[in-house]
Amino acid sequence: MIILITGSRKGIGRRLAEHYLDLGHKVIGCSRSESELEHENYTHYLADVTNEKDVKMMLKGVRKEYGHIDVLINNAGIASMNHFLLTPTETARKVMDTNYFGTLIMTREAARLLRKSDHGRVVNFTSVAVALSLEGESIYLASKAAIEALTKVTAKELGQYEITVNAIGPTPIDTSLIAAVPKEKIASLIDKQAVKRYGEFEDVINLIDFYIKPESDFITGQIVYLGGIF
Ligand SMILES: NC(=O)c1ccc[n+]([C@@H]2O[C@H](COP(=O)([O-])OP(=O)(O)OC[C@H]3O[C@@H](n4cnc5c(N)ncnc54)[C@H](OP(=O)(O)O)[C@@H]3O)[C@@H](O)[C@H]2O)c1
Repeated sequence: MIILITGSRKGIGRRLAEHYLDLGHKVIGCSRSESELEHENYTHYLADVTNEKDVKMMLKGVRKEYGHIDVLINNAGIASMNHFLLTPTETARKVMDTNYFGTLIMTREAARLLRKSDHGRVVNFTSVAVALSLEGESIYLASKAAIEALTKVTAKELGQYEITVNAIGPTPIDTSLIAAVPKEKIASLIDKQAVKRYGEFEDVINLIDFYIKPESDFITGQIVYLGGIF
């Protein structure tokens, strides 16, 4: 399969890229800074998902190289955690731009290449923060809630092209995204989960493997939170 993963320089995106390369797939990744991942089946683009020009340039390259995409994983994301009274507008716009607009732009522009697949798949990233209405995460949470809404509507609108669109909502996973979050805050969040532990990369891989397999062509518009948050 041809799999495009945004934000594949580090964290979850990097681990996903390694996983699908190990399985023998062709992987295209992108980020704003250079990647150190080297593999004969891996192509990395310096592309900011908020920048339409970057996204179009990248997809032009993908079209030339492969002609289509089977899977788009909209993993790129940033977080800003603060009391909303202390959140500058600029920060709020940046989070919305990366998380929501990045997902929207990439999905819209990649749809043409996904339509050429026998079973196109889009996987978006939300967070358990939405289900829990977590304090201190109003902006991040709003951007992810918007992604959930986009997931449901695009699932309907892309269904006629046999493209499924689903979302995964991880619990805390030890990456740089949450490095600045106080440990006691993470502990109290984990305490709200039915399964009380950090998420692992393998938990994410497990669900995405399920979403993208050909037999999952009847599963679309779904939001699955990890760890037992509902
Ligand atoms: N870790 C968690 O606890 C957790 C929990 C719930 C949900 N999530 C979600 O999981 C996804 C991955 O998070 P992570 O923990 O792996 O974060 P991370 O370790 O901070 O990695 C984020 C990745 O996204 C890239 N990126 C950021 N802005 C970008 C942009 N505008 N254009 C292109 N690439 C961009 C970064 O590379 P550059 O900086 O080089 O651009 C990096 O490769 C995010 O959507 C996040 O919201 C994570």
